[in-house]
Amino acid sequence: MNPFQSVYELIGEEKIRLLTAYFYQEVSQNRELRKLYPEEDLKPAERRLYLFLLQVFGGPQSYSEERGHPRLRLRHLQWQINPDLRDHWLNAMFSAMDKLQLDPNVKELMMGYFIKVANHMINHE
Ligand code: HEM
Repeated sequence: MNPFQSVYELIGEEKIRLLTAYFYQEVSQNRELRKLYPEEDLKPAERRLYLFLLQVFGGPQSYSEERGHPRLRLRHLQWQINPDLRDHWLNAMFSAMDKLQLDPNVKELMMGYFIKVANHMINHE
């Protein structure tokens, strides 16, 4: 089991739901991130991230039932993700995390996960 899979049990479904809601509030206020979403309504994207995080953090596996194999890097090739855009994404996620009361050890675990995956999404200089 990878260590991230303990997060679901440690913080619970409701905090993961709030995390994605806060994250998308940040996206809606960030010009660089917001312009990646042509749709008016960010809720469907919020739900996809929510289901994905439930799954990677060790909760229900409904993301894959709905969306198939995540293939995250491949799915992100449609946007030019450089280190600057990665930082916007990570800052939005860290601001969202700051709104939750998280145990410092869990927070570190989650930050490590997000940094690792965000670095992996870089496909442009
Ligand atoms: C590094 C900068 C990143 C940028 C600019 C970015 C941008 C985006 C955008 C614009 C979407 C489309 C939203 C939608 O309609 O679902 C998306 C989808 C998604 N992103 Fe990212 N993302 C980044 C990093 C990450 C990271 C670090 C994760 C995971 C920890 C992640 C997980 C996802 C997931 C699960 C989806 C939905 C995929 C699907 O089922 O179609 N992204 N991302």
